[in-house]
Amino acid sequence: MSFLQLENISKVFAGAGKPAVNGLKLTINQGEIVSLLGPSGCGKTTTLRMIAGFENPSEGTIKIDGATIVKDAFALPPEKRGIGMVFQDYALFPHMTILKNVMFGLNKWSSRDKKKRAKEVLELVGLEEFADRYPTQISGGQQQRVALARALAPRPHVVLMDEPFSNLDAGLREKMRFEITNILRRANTTAIIVTHDQKDAFAVSDRVVVMNEGEIQQIAAPKEMYRCPKNCFVAQFVGKTNLLTGKMDQDLRSIHTHIGRVTLPEESKQLLEDVTLSVRPEGCMLSEQGAYCGKVERVTYSGEYQELHVHLQNDGGLAPAPMLIYAPVEQDIEVGTVVSFDIKPELVALVD
Ligand SMILES: Nc1ncnc2c1ncn2[C@@H]1O[C@H](COP(=O)(O)OP(=O)(O)O)[C@@H](O)[C@H]1O
Ligand SMILES: [Mg+2]
Repeated sequence: MSFLQLENISKVFAGAGKPAVNGLKLTINQGEIVSLLGPSGCGKTTTLRMIAGFENPSEGTIKIDGATIVKDAFALPPEKRGIGMVFQDYALFPHMTILKNVMFGLNKWSSRDKKKRAKEVLELVGLEEFADRYPTQISGGQQQRVALARALAPRPHVVLMDEPFSNLDAGLREKMRFEITNILRRANTTAIIVTHDQKDAFAVSDRVVVMNEGEIQQIAAPKEMYRCPKNCFVAQFVGKTNLLTGKMDQDLRSIHTHIGRVTLPEESKQLLEDVTLSVRPEGCMLSEQGAYCGKVERVTYSGEYQELHVHLQNDGGLAPAPMLIYAPVEQDIEVGTVVSFDIKPELVALVD
């Protein structure tokens, strides 16, 4: 099933001290949509460019459908890789109609087939009636779909999209997340989508690859990534969280932290001494008889919920421990009041 394989890919740019990409290992199945998620400068674009063939890795092997496209000194030229690229700025030709833009990638086809295929993909992206317009005569979201149609036209093995949502405003962005995944699914194509936005990544992909400083931190389906982040970086990058340190009890499920005992969703496989926990703010539920209590120091109203910054009293008389917890919007909570809450074990995870 593995369709695109990256084996120990590294890239060191001339004159750079640190590698931009370091020992990347990733296998993608046919028809799968995977996103590369990470902060600016972590090596996402460099990874895409190496797959597309615009940049050669310093080390490593890339295979598509069993065929080696990069290894040692060998690198198949970009146009022979069967890869469709959608650039961050769409890169449409302003002097060509939408139809001509889409036909552009089909230069080896007969002109009749070119036109037929271009119309087919324009229909797939829902823009058949815009074929004769120019890129400046359509909206940003439509330009995005033209760029995707152009990439899909030659029936590539893999489609690569670099930050496809970054030029769109919030409302359109949400709509395009849905549309782009729909189009990719209908085309039955394998795709890699690069983004620095966790919501984009979660909404569009089967699996998410979190990267930091050129290295993969975790590969997982969105829900698993959120509920079981592997380390502190992932826990903090995919949503907000509270990091607590503590000691594990002999029962392998209870962690003694400075705010009291916190329960894991399941027993740890081994007894660990000093551990770090990620506790999601929505896992902290206000409750009159709650096991933890603290004073509300700040309330931020987000519309969907209220973010409460709560200071908890410590066991050992240390400084109060700050915690972020989410409360439903219908509750009136004043700064200075004392609230109590429980922690749902399902939203607690052990992290490295
Ligand atoms: N052509 C280049 N020459 C030198 N350094 C580069 C080049 N392209 C990218 N870099 C560096 O490589 C790192 C990763 O960049 P990039 O892949 O663009 O990150 P991202 O897309 O995740 O924001 C950055 O430190 C960037 O400055
Ligand atoms: Mg980039």
